[in-house]
Amino acid sequence: MTTAGPRVTSAPVQPHTGVFGVSHADGEPSPVTAKAEGALKGRLRVPGDKSISHRSLIFGLLAFGETQIEGLLEGDDVLRTAEACRALGAGITREAEGRWRVRGAGIGGLTEPAGILDFANAGTGSRLMMGVAGSHPITSTFDGDASLRKRPMRRILDPLSRMGVTVVSEAEGGRVPLTLRGPKETIPITYETPAASAQIKSAILLAALNAPGRTTVIEREATRDHTERMLRHFGARVDVAPHGADGRAITLEGQPELRGSTVIVPSDPSSAAFPLVAALITPGSDIVIEGVMMNPLRTGLITTLMEMGAAIERLNERDEGGETVADLRVQASRLKGVTVPAARAPSMIDEYPILAVAASFAEGTTRMQGLHELRVKESDRLAAVAAGLGEAGVPHRIEGDDLIVEGAGGTVAGGGTVATHLDHRIAMSFLVMGLATRDPMTVDDGRMIQTSFPTFIPLMRGLGAAIRD
Ligand code: S3P
Repeated sequence: MTTAGPRVTSAPVQPHTGVFGVSHADGEPSPVTAKAEGALKGRLRVPGDKSISHRSLIFGLLAFGETQIEGLLEGDDVLRTAEACRALGAGITREAEGRWRVRGAGIGGLTEPAGILDFANAGTGSRLMMGVAGSHPITSTFDGDASLRKRPMRRILDPLSRMGVTVVSEAEGGRVPLTLRGPKETIPITYETPAASAQIKSAILLAALNAPGRTTVIEREATRDHTERMLRHFGARVDVAPHGADGRAITLEGQPELRGSTVIVPSDPSSAAFPLVAALITPGSDIVIEGVMMNPLRTGLITTLMEMGAAIERLNERDEGGETVADLRVQASRLKGVTVPAARAPSMIDEYPILAVAASFAEGTTRMQGLHELRVKESDRLAAVAAGLGEAGVPHRIEGDDLIVEGAGGTVAGGGTVATHLDHRIAMSFLVMGLATRDPMTVDDGRMIQTSFPTFIPLMRGLGAAIRD
């Protein structure tokens, strides 16, 4: 294995409060500043994948028997899902850092939660759990923070209504807080998703677990397939057939008996994206990010960066828990602008803010096409990224659903304070930018980093980054 330097970085999970260690983003915003201070060197491992972590707890709840999870992401979003699973009848214990045990309630065996299911900032957790709770004959109420309360839930409520779920109440426009009541018997459906969204697909498939007969979800563009993989891993029958040029039809046989299982969570490529781009844009850098999941439905950013001329080597590729993982050696690189086609969006949907940062340092124009889904993430990410680029003095424009960044070929002014709008990826992206700009970059609030990558700041500092909170 190639090594990039002597330093080994590891950081403990930061202290939490609450039943499962959920910390709250109540109180005052907490600004964070990053400035250029030389090359990044060393090796690091980023935490477990957020998508797989949510799903491992949910499948643990729906299985009979015990599920062992290794490498669970202990970020706030996932801890909210753990609390919700417990409220629905799972027995959940944390045995060590990242090692969790779930005693399942089984499909059809969920209990009515005593209180509101508060998902805080977590879109994935809340939407997937609407499918889980909504398909059972119980009443459940979902709520979240100011960011989640703005996000559209109609995309989940519409198919669930067709499956017999009653939306007892909802905030204006189909948003949380909302209350669902499940039918006596959930109805299997065939449904084409209106947006390329793994969350919509997964909410339906999870609801379909408690429906007799076959449910088919059709997606015009393939999205991350972690739910399908985990369904099979826990013993369900799933058929996946090609649909059109880029799509898939996923058919699930309802009411299987899921068996408790072992899940090994690989490192999150969406978190790895931050040190990866940091090393590319910070002159002289040479790092290795260990054990990153290389599922092809998640690696659009790496494909794009390689097209831009990035020096990224995939080392030591191996199988870990049913996914291919690799160590990524990343060296500072001269990047050039490219056009990123809309068809690539599902495989890098969470990576556009950090790609926009890389594009700011590239030579020439980068055009990112078809970003309409970015408007309904933890913030309106298209607007938030554009505003951040403006703060840093990077020429850019939005044309329809496209973001166009005019790269300066290495020199970016920086300075200013970026508004993060309760969005973890906006915060981390502009802190990474600040590691290579002429003037430091400040983000107005770093608290949300806790939702997906609690060890971001200590790990980056371990590589030599100057990040101050
Ligand atoms: C996710 C799906 C994506 C992604 C999110 C995680 C998942 O959302 O942005 O961070 O785990 O299914 P959409 O389904 O809205 O695209």
